[in-house]
Amino acid sequence: MYVTIFMCMKKKPVLVISSGAGISAESGIKTFRDADGLWENYPVMDVASADGFRRNPALIHKFYNERRHQLVNARPNEAHKILADLEKYYDVRVITQNVDDLHERAGSSNVLHLHGELMKIRSIKNPDYIEELSPDNLDTNVETRGKNGDLMRPHIVFFQEPVPNIEKAVEEVSEADIFVVIGTSLVVYPAASLLNFVRPGVPVFYIDPNPADVSGFPVKVIRKTATAGMAELRDILVKKAEEKE
Ligand code: APR
Repeated sequence: MYVTIFMCMKKKPVLVISSGAGISAESGIKTFRDADGLWENYPVMDVASADGFRRNPALIHKFYNERRHQLVNARPNEAHKILADLEKYYDVRVITQNVDDLHERAGSSNVLHLHGELMKIRSIKNPDYIEELSPDNLDTNVETRGKNGDLMRPHIVFFQEPVPNIEKAVEEVSEADIFVVIGTSLVVYPAASLLNFVRPGVPVFYIDPNPADVSGFPVKVIRKTATAGMAELRDILVKKAEEKE
């Protein structure tokens, strides 16, 4: 009896994921720095920086309203779904730079957003007061107030602002038994620094069709899209998990 319970409670290996815009590309959501990406079509410091929000908050509300309308029409792709499915074999901890909710909608139960969440807004004067938007209530403007009467802003980490969840992310990566980076150009810090916190000897995989140079790290690069790369990696990860059982 106790053996059975013990076997059920056996600790699963920790699989930490660091995802970027590339994992949502096959869901139809533009990345930032690819050809025709978001930053080719918008002046990044006008629509995604603290100075920009001070200068012209209406433009920023409009920019994030447009992205919410795109998001509600997008669906999680096979890469998001495989990650959710791997929770059968691993303690999967997703750290994402993405502000979309596709990991959650695919079924991932442990998602840490480094750069905020598109479907949430927060009080300008009290950053701990956060409200969730719904698919039938996507738009905000400079007069939008929360239920508590506070003026609200997108719950997004703008450039020039601190990344409150980075300490937690570093802690997660330092506990990883396997670390997987998916679809990020590794140019934005501190997210790009997470590779430095993997324990020696922990296997690291990087899935990206056009990967950044990670030659300084012992990384297995899978030069494929997120869906193709995760399909390949899933077989490897399931085999590893079954060998440990
Ligand atoms: N599958 C996997 N990766 C892909 C795919 C795909 N189908 N398509 C593109 N990519 C890769 C690109 O090769 C690139 O390496 O996704 C990465 C996208 O890079 P960026 O556009 O720079 O996105 P990201 O790394 O997430 O940006 C980080 O920058 O502007 C800020 O806050 C914003 O969170 C964002 C941060």
